[in-house]
Amino acid sequence: MVDYEVTVITSNRVASTTFNNVFIKLVGTDGESERKWLISLKGAAAFIKGAVSYFTVSCPTSIGKLVLIELDKQPLLLFPEDSWFPAKVEVKSPEGHTYNFPIYRWITDSEVYRFREATALRVFEDHHHLGRYSREQELQERKEDYRWNVYEEGIPHHMKVDDPLSLPCEVRFSFTKTTEFLFTASTGLTELKLKGLADCEESWTSIDDIDRVFCCKQTDMSDYVQEHWKEDTFFGYQFLNGLNPILIRRCTTLPSNFPVTDCMVFLHGGSSLTDEMKKGNIFLCDYKQMDGVQANTINGKQQYLMAPLVLLQKTPDDKLMPIAIQLKQKPAEDNPIFFPTDSEYDWLLAKIFVRSADFSEHQLNVHLLRTHLLAEVFAVSLLRNLPMVHPLYKLLIPHTRYTIQINFLARRRLISQDGVFTQFSASGGEGLVTILRRSLSSVTYRSLCIPEDIADRGLEDVPNFYYRDDGLRLWDIIHRFVKGILGYYYKNDCEVKQDSELQKWISDIFEHGFLSKQSTGIPQRFTTVAELIQFVTMVIFTGSAQHAAVNTGQYDYGGWMPNTPISLQLPPPTTKGKATEATMLSTFPDVNTTVQGMATMWLLSQQSSDFVPLGQYPEDHFSEETPLQVMKDFQKELEVLSANIKTRNKHLEVPYTYLDPEEVENSVAI
Ligand code: FE2
Repeated sequence: MVDYEVTVITSNRVASTTFNNVFIKLVGTDGESERKWLISLKGAAAFIKGAVSYFTVSCPTSIGKLVLIELDKQPLLLFPEDSWFPAKVEVKSPEGHTYNFPIYRWITDSEVYRFREATALRVFEDHHHLGRYSREQELQERKEDYRWNVYEEGIPHHMKVDDPLSLPCEVRFSFTKTTEFLFTASTGLTELKLKGLADCEESWTSIDDIDRVFCCKQTDMSDYVQEHWKEDTFFGYQFLNGLNPILIRRCTTLPSNFPVTDCMVFLHGGSSLTDEMKKGNIFLCDYKQMDGVQANTINGKQQYLMAPLVLLQKTPDDKLMPIAIQLKQKPAEDNPIFFPTDSEYDWLLAKIFVRSADFSEHQLNVHLLRTHLLAEVFAVSLLRNLPMVHPLYKLLIPHTRYTIQINFLARRRLISQDGVFTQFSASGGEGLVTILRRSLSSVTYRSLCIPEDIADRGLEDVPNFYYRDDGLRLWDIIHRFVKGILGYYYKNDCEVKQDSELQKWISDIFEHGFLSKQSTGIPQRFTTVAELIQFVTMVIFTGSAQHAAVNTGQYDYGGWMPNTPISLQLPPPTTKGKATEATMLSTFPDVNTTVQGMATMWLLSQQSSDFVPLGQYPEDHFSEETPLQVMKDFQKELEVLSANIKTRNKHLEVPYTYLDPEEVENSVAI
């Protein structure tokens, strides 16, 4: 007889204990063990939360190299079936090899489950017949569990889920996350002590009243925003380091529908607009996607959503200052171009309409579509097409945590018929779908890769652009990490081409995420290792860094409503010189709309206590030395970047913290 020493580790997560009887069978290249009941001296405590329990499985002779294990649990008579969350199983063979079997999933019934040994295997190198069989079975089951669904034509597909309890256990929120995160606007309203205001359909009558509501919950940054929101320098700053850093671009010729001339603008130094454009000092933000979008009706009142054009100048002292704003796309008599030299409230109102258009652009295009919805597509395609033993599954699965459930909740609670966004935002309802469709048409692969995006927007040398500085460093670090892992498995382009599972992953993304639009530049298949590395870097960057950059500061920038009104209820001035503070207050959203917006942004900016920072991998999916070393190097590089960002921030009036790796979550989880 020969002995296999088996270690079973039950996860540390809440409620992962089983008191059922657990059975194991070892399957090797030369045979298999009997199905063995795992009895331990610990008795019923062998499989409690966090337990590490040891067993021996004996076989008449060696069963060769281990390929997989079969696990099942059976309820005892009179005891109910329970749910078990084993983390992993380790087996030491009589030859002295240690084999690892990552599990990390719930076992809720008494079926037999197969788990592959941790050494990654692509389909073309998976030769053992039982290994291949279990690989096919696993994918077949996953294709049934994870099905594509169409929310609206023209936007990325998502996973079909009828209710959160029908979500496969693996992708559901942990108990901790569920209890912390009820995801209702009322949670936020209660926390902000705003409940009494949720039914108030009145306009604001003074800025002091807004202040009184806001002062219940302030962050350092939201405090700063309240103090500086009217300033041109801060208005300009937000295009670089605020919630939406991806719209601004260098302007070398004015768009024909924005007829600004030299004699109209006051330039900070420099001779003429043409000269300044030649020098690369002029920038444009064009909200053309909002043009003609049907604005919402809130509290029975028509709302207004503009499609502004904003011209900015980089000044000799390195500030980015707005120099002209046109609120509608088509030049016309009643569509004046506003300048900082106009009356205080004309100019301030023009900026408020820009900030409100930016709210819709940010939430729908920059945040929802370009991070949440795409991250779900990457995740669903991964789950449908790649088995656990595939190296790309091992690499990407930690970067999909909670994404499917958070998107389900966003669809149900934010953008559904009675969702907060639908009810209270200028672009809620019909406008939302129009904007999402237009946004998807404008997404390109290059714009999802920050080095190309920055170059295409001509922003390589704009000063004080911390989103770019930190983002590019993070991109490089992630790229080196992905290259280290995938370069280890894919030694040449041929291996990439012949990996049918990998090819299915990308072709599903092309079809279901980008609706088979070749103009996006998204690859339909991978032909080289370099292409694969670039795409996977983009996937990790999008779900971690990019999402953090556009998500974390939502309350910081949006808590003080006048800086980011979620809707506006008067049209902008069509002639100059008439606007007053009262005009501004009646333009702002009603009290209930304001507090619903604040509460939602508060909720969406909260960090969960089971937050996993970028580069931390609590689950051991890899077991080979090289990927483990590459992970350690990745973590070290992130630590250094984090320290550098903290040092840099000490010298900044407004610290830029959103891309500090310690603050970036591994996946889209909120
Ligand atoms: Fe988010």
